[in-house]
Amino acid sequence: MKSLSINIPIAVYAYDELSDLDKRLVDEARKATFRAYAPYSKFNVGAAIALDNGEIVTGANQENVAYPSGTCAERTACYYAHAQFPEAKFQTIAIAARGTDGVELNAPISPCGACRQALLEYEILAEHDVRVILVSANDIYIISSVKQLLPLAFSSF
Ligand code: THU
Repeated sequence: MKSLSINIPIAVYAYDELSDLDKRLVDEARKATFRAYAPYSKFNVGAAIALDNGEIVTGANQENVAYPSGTCAERTACYYAHAQFPEAKFQTIAIAARGTDGVELNAPISPCGACRQALLEYEILAEHDVRVILVSANDIYIISSVKQLLPLAFSSF
């Protein structure tokens, strides 16, 4: 028997240590949390994607009374980005959240499994790593690619 282990490197930053573009993305993700439609969970998530054409596209979670019909912030942003700019490649996504008390969380949230799979598709299309920035009121985590977040991912390519 052999055993394998998977290690996910995470760089932990304070906001002031980020590059100007990363600060802007974090700011946009935080702002997007205020555009969430989350009357059921009251959990507000915002995502901001930097594209290689210079655009920043944002999204927020959109819930629905028929619960499974809702969409996470990450998929709202990535589907909108690719629908608006089908030729553009994703560079970085930042994700921020405010809890049911309306306050930014003290620890970052990480995308759900379905969002990881969706984001991976755009990383494959980009033909390079897409960085993931997980925002909180304290630490900011930077993961160098979506595939780091989804080890052993399904792919039919
Ligand atoms: N949610 C996101 O938008 N992104 C995540 O990464 C995790 C969860 C949303 C889905 C739902 O509207 C609410 O947060 C509570 O789960």
